Amino acid sequence: MPPSVALSAILITIISIAVRNAPAADADAFQFREAPKFYNSPNCPSLTPPAAAAADTTSNICYDSNAIHVAMTLDAAYLRGSMAAILSVLQHSSCPENIIFHFVSSSSATTSDLRRTMSISFPYLQFNVYSFDDSAAAGLISTSIRAALDCPLNYARNYLADLLPTCIRKIVYLDSDLVLVDNIAKLAATPLINDAVLAAPEYCNANFTSYFTPTFWSNPSLSLTFANRKPCYFNTGVMVIDIERWRAGDYTTKIVEWMELQKRMRIYELGSLPPFLLVFAGNIAPVDHRWNQHGLGGDNFRGLCRDLHPGPVSLLHWSGKGKPWARLDENRPCPLDALWAPYDLLGTRSNLES
Ligand SMILES: *[C@@H]1O[C@H](CO)[C@@H](O)[C@H](O)[C@H]1NC(C)=O
Repeated sequence: MPPSVALSAILITIISIAVRNAPAADADAFQFREAPKFYNSPNCPSLTPPAAAAADTTSNICYDSNAIHVAMTLDAAYLRGSMAAILSVLQHSSCPENIIFHFVSSSSATTSDLRRTMSISFPYLQFNVYSFDDSAAAGLISTSIRAALDCPLNYARNYLADLLPTCIRKIVYLDSDLVLVDNIAKLAATPLINDAVLAAPEYCNANFTSYFTPTFWSNPSLSLTFANRKPCYFNTGVMVIDIERWRAGDYTTKIVEWMELQKRMRIYELGSLPPFLLVFAGNIAPVDHRWNQHGLGGDNFRGLCRDLHPGPVSLLHWSGKGKPWARLDENRPCPLDALWAPYDLLGTRSNLES
């Protein structure tokens, strides 16, 4: 091993130890590298700035329909994952300058720290940070089978329609434990057919019954919610959402109503997913499975290594207990974690250049 490689390996070890030992809320403790600037290709549509009449504090992000709006949550625990996801989105986009990010952070986090950390690694990124009042969701959460699923920020996706400015009509929601290996414009262009509020890949072979408790299925007034629908499982980590339709139908309230019921009687075991299934399953627009190759984190209990589902891949999603950055740090990666590593902004510089 040449000395320079050995030295950088030592430095990375020091940095990752520093990060692991850092107080979780201190975004300054993260030493992420700066990502390169990504440029639009010549045939990209240009963004029309918003009309002066619409000028307000958020008007800089109120571009026309040529912009692609991406919503993600942002917190100290998953910051490294978010950074990798953002980098992967930009790197595979043909019009990266037309992408606008909307980051939702917990109200207990210091948004100015997150904003600064983001600006250091992505100086050219167009983004806004929104503060999510966790206490609203916290009171609605009942404990699930995996503690990480009970984090209030996990529920922020229910509230995007309230958090984001009304000038935004459509968004792509992405979890923080994924990377894209394809152009996000293709996903964002998913037609929301049949007046669907959201689009996501559906998995009709999954055992839908198992997502709800016998209490739920044995109570006709509850289980009838799925009458006249053909409900299938979908993963809420990748969704294209028409937020105008979401607002018009007040779907936030519909989801909250199921969460309130769950507090009184246990109708499901997982965290934020089942209320989405209750409200939307069977009524969503389809997306090719390539856009959510999920489950790479393994199961909810042990985080065993999982393989890809058959077929092409546009997005890799480490849903489940194991996260690629943690397994790489522990020197116990799963084979597919090697596909996440090139997007790690805490990794070696050569990762980005190769
Ligand atoms: C689906 O899950 C339910 C509840 O977990 C179980 O009772 C049923 O046998 C399963 N069905 C199939 C086809 O595996």
